[in-house]
Amino acid sequence: MLAFRRAGCAGLLSLTVLGSACGGDKSAPPGILDGNAGAGGEGGNAPREPCAKSPKNVADTTLAEAYAQHFKFGVALNGFTFFDDASARADLARTEFNRATAENAMKWSSLEPTEGEYDFEAADAFVEFAEANAMQIHGHVLLWHEQVPDWVFETDRAGLLGRLEQHMAALADRYAGRVAYWDVVNEAFEDDGSLRNTPWRQILGDDYIQEVFAMADRYFPDAKLVYNDFNMYQPGKRDRVLRMLDDFDEAGVRIDAIGMQAHYHLYFPAIETIEEALTAYGDAGIEVLVTELDVNVLPIPNRSNPADENFDPDPYVECLPESVDALVADRWGELLSLFVRHADDISSVTTWGLDDGLSWLNGDRTNYALLFDRDLEPKSNYVRVIEVADE
Ligand code: G3I
Repeated sequence: MLAFRRAGCAGLLSLTVLGSACGGDKSAPPGILDGNAGAGGEGGNAPREPCAKSPKNVADTTLAEAYAQHFKFGVALNGFTFFDDASARADLARTEFNRATAENAMKWSSLEPTEGEYDFEAADAFVEFAEANAMQIHGHVLLWHEQVPDWVFETDRAGLLGRLEQHMAALADRYAGRVAYWDVVNEAFEDDGSLRNTPWRQILGDDYIQEVFAMADRYFPDAKLVYNDFNMYQPGKRDRVLRMLDDFDEAGVRIDAIGMQAHYHLYFPAIETIEEALTAYGDAGIEVLVTELDVNVLPIPNRSNPADENFDPDPYVECLPESVDALVADRWGELLSLFVRHADDISSVTTWGLDDGLSWLNGDRTNYALLFDRDLEPKSNYVRVIEVADE
């Protein structure tokens, strides 16, 4: 079964992702968007062309060093890294990155799966790992509609506010002064700018976002407070976020930054579309964090022909063909060039995972979404990203 999890253009998220809704797709070659591209062919997964290999000519620097002149370079970590300090993954993370986000360890379902029974094991290990390696800590996430245990919502407005307050108090008590940025509210808007109809909205009412930031301001006075979302380039969502910033300003409620999740595809959205959004956020004077960068390279099912028998949802099981690897490197290069152009407004870029083997974009397929391969070797896109830092 494919892992289609959510509407939008972010990665393998939807069957409704093509066309202008994705923010101006580049011309994808025939095949990639209907699953007939790349390695595979007769006999299923036998590669038709050479497999991409980790390049030999890797510069003697790190992502953090190369980008120090522009912004911090971060990574989302999970237990495979922070629970095993002696592992190759831990070495890679501490060498290449100077900022860390907890991929799952600080979500409500990890911290308090059952009411009153806290489990800080993973969150503590994450924070200790980041601190031991001088990585700036990004807390993810205080309020989201996913990975929240059902019990949280089994109450009324006052009860839910009380639970949220207790949740923040517990985190503040443990991590005060240690977490530099908190994602306060995550994914509250639809692409058209309307409020997502989550249990939070249903129980707390339409004005909940400001109320929750005001609460976070009381508990985390020393941390920067972030609104984080995917598809932040979509005009409807972008304009809604800009209006939200004005409303906060008028009400005197603190919001310090926005997080652009940056779950992109090899062919969309167009760089110009992302740039329009970055320019608009820059003009609004808000600090921007590129919080969850990855590039989905897998084909998207053909919407106009969902029953297409030739569709191969998983064409790169064996390896990524060299030609696709080169396109992937170009895409990462374009993205990082864009971020460098807007470095005055962007304070960090964070990849959503350490290596291809750990990416959530694999689902039950074989994706190549990050900068290091399954053997933890740098990929062609890594080399390009390093080159772009000095352009
Ligand atoms: O930890 C449990 C384990 O105990 C259980 O046996 C197993 C069975 O499925 O599930 C494990 O939890 C999984 C968790 O990742 C840790 O691996 C969840 O099922 C799985 O749903 C969860 O996925 C995470 C997803 O958020 C949740 O929606 C991904 O790893 C994580 O990368 C992803 O990250 C989100 C950001 O938080 C917000 N922005 C979008 C981004 C991608 O969806």
